[in-house]
Amino acid sequence: MRAVYAESINREDPLAGLVVGERPDPVAPEGWARVSVRAAALNHHDVWSLRGRGLKADALPMILGCDAAGVDEDGNEVVVHAVINDPAFTGTDETTDPRRSLLSERFQGTFADTVVVPRRNLVPKPEGLSMVEAACLPTAWLTAYRMLFVRGGLRPGESVLVQGVGGGVSTALITLARAAGLRVYATTRHEDKRARALEIGAHEVFASGERLPVKVDAVMETVGRATWEHSVRSLRPGGRIVISGTTSGPQVDDAMLTHVFFLQLSVIGSTMGTRDELDQLVQLLRSTGARPLVHAEMPLEQARDGFAQMIEGEHVGKIVFTL
Ligand SMILES: NC(=O)c1ccc[n+]([C@@H]2O[C@H](COP(=O)([O-])OP(=O)(O)OC[C@H]3O[C@@H](n4cnc5c(N)ncnc54)[C@H](OP(=O)(O)O)[C@@H]3O)[C@@H](O)[C@H]2O)c1
Repeated sequence: MRAVYAESINREDPLAGLVVGERPDPVAPEGWARVSVRAAALNHHDVWSLRGRGLKADALPMILGCDAAGVDEDGNEVVVHAVINDPAFTGTDETTDPRRSLLSERFQGTFADTVVVPRRNLVPKPEGLSMVEAACLPTAWLTAYRMLFVRGGLRPGESVLVQGVGGGVSTALITLARAAGLRVYATTRHEDKRARALEIGAHEVFASGERLPVKVDAVMETVGRATWEHSVRSLRPGGRIVISGTTSGPQVDDAMLTHVFFLQLSVIGSTMGTRDELDQLVQLLRSTGARPLVHAEMPLEQARDGFAQMIEGEHVGKIVFTL
């Protein structure tokens, strides 16, 4: 079958290990389902994998991709939940399973004609959501949903700062926060991305690092080093930072610990979301009409171009491969 996979790992030049080619058809173990992939979205996670973060050399070759929407063996249109649990896990929040993995880490990913996943990982795709839109949800959008409403506990009327505009997670955060009745501030490095942020729901957009006119209830962080200090300085006393990524690096010059204790701030980690939260997210889009911002849609064969655009950082929204 057609597939986009990592053949080798290269920290400096991630595209060097990327292959657009053929891989054997997967076999579904007992209790797993085969999904014919119609659309699969790219995440920064796929670039990290090519750089060797989260993907080990002994797992190669590995088909990349966490996100997919497609059709199962019974003809149902489905969205694929990307978190694969250890079968022995009995807790209710599968994101806390210490042996969990994401598709494309231990099990083959979604950038292929077919992906196999535990049957429980299939969520029905509503008719009103296109395959391309649905493919954006399992990683970036689910992460944003959990950051805002589960880990962040945000309520209508509260204010939130989203660090970054162009990313898959940041566009999801802006759209979902606005749909849920929050006051939304965002920052970006790119002047030309400001208008897009306003279009998808930000009330005000600032340059990265620029002082906000108010202190906010919560900050959503995926950038890390480049924005951490600004995030801490932007919070009201008692505010919280929810962090799910460190695109610019995890090492900060100043962790601002004095601010953290003196202003009684909370720093909250967040990762992916549960299968039920993915279902709730799908229902939220259904009822609000909110939809993922798609930067580019391209055939799977052109995946290399999509990866290059993500590495350049010029995108605003999701890059989606179609099959
Ligand atoms: N924990 C989880 O479960 C989870 C799930 C999904 C993603 N993540 C992580 O979250 C991060 C974002 O993922 P993504 O797929 O949305 O990536 P992406 O599409 O590449 O987005 C990158 C974002 O970071 C901003 N950015 C990058 N470098 C910056 C810098 N030096 N200064 C300020 N802003 C900067 C960009 O904003 P502008 O271009 O607008 O400035 C953009 O919004 C990644 O690190 C990813 O690994 C974690």
